Amino acid sequence: MKLAVTGKGGVGKTTVCALLARAFADAGRRVIAVDADPNATLAACLGFDDPDSITPLIEMEALIEERTGVKPGSQGAVFKLNPRVEDIPDRFCTTKDGVRLLKMGALKRGGSGCYCPENAFLKSLVSHLFLVDQDVLIMDMEAGIEHFGRGTAQGVDWLLVVVEPSRQSIDTAKRIKSLAEDIGLARIGVIGNKCRTENEREFIERSVSPLPLLGALPYDDGLRLAEQEGRPPEPSRAAVSEEVQRIIAQLENEQIVKRTLS
Ligand SMILES: Nc1ncnc2c1ncn2[C@@H]1O[C@H](COP(=O)(O)OP(=O)(O)O)[C@@H](O)[C@H]1O
Ligand SMILES: [Mg+2]
Repeated sequence: MKLAVTGKGGVGKTTVCALLARAFADAGRRVIAVDADPNATLAACLGFDDPDSITPLIEMEALIEERTGVKPGSQGAVFKLNPRVEDIPDRFCTTKDGVRLLKMGALKRGGSGCYCPENAFLKSLVSHLFLVDQDVLIMDMEAGIEHFGRGTAQGVDWLLVVVEPSRQSIDTAKRIKSLAEDIGLARIGVIGNKCRTENEREFIERSVSPLPLLGALPYDDGLRLAEQEGRPPEPSRAAVSEEVQRIIAQLENEQIVKRTLS
């Protein structure tokens, strides 16, 4: 099952990714978590020791040169657009408590940056990850999905949009929905977060309709404190884990339906 998690900045994408990754791993699934946000915080959120010491793939210049045929930063050289990447997950994942992690690093932007060996390498890797048969792939994306290509999108089972009870995060979700439809991504699900009341959950459900609300995590001080102290999210309220399980059950259920139909 391949999940890409998106939403406005600060809504709880990384927290939700970490909670889902952990819950899938605890249920015995093989999990690969991909940090595709340039402002990479997933490793810390998953409790990896010394997360800053994990080198993002985009900074592995020798590897990128070996695969694309061109040294990053060289001007005007012709590089391979689809470099070989299939061995990357096994060789470069860091593992913690059954969750494997790949840290992507920031795509180069602007000028010739969009068309450079580093970006070709990352894009090829993302497409590959979305196509190969992994048990659970969960990608923490940077806000917005402009960087999400058509080819990549086709491999995703779900685009999960995290929404908090605010007009702004709902507007972002709607923009993501229309972008996602433009690139042919069918299945989008919303995960509510930081809901303090039942009314807030209903507000989200109403506002994002017709997108399905797969679950809504309550506001939980345990999660906020854990982040402040640099620990993995540790809910203090049972309702957090219950919602996570509810979300997983729905994702699994759809997966079974999809398999039966195909
Ligand atoms: N359900 C929640 N209750 C309370 N705080 C939360 C909850 N979910 C996330 N947070 C806090 O909100 C902040 C942003 O969360 P984060 O997952 O880093 O967001 P994003 O990845 O979308 O930028 C963090 O301090 C995190 O601990
Ligand atoms: Mg984040």
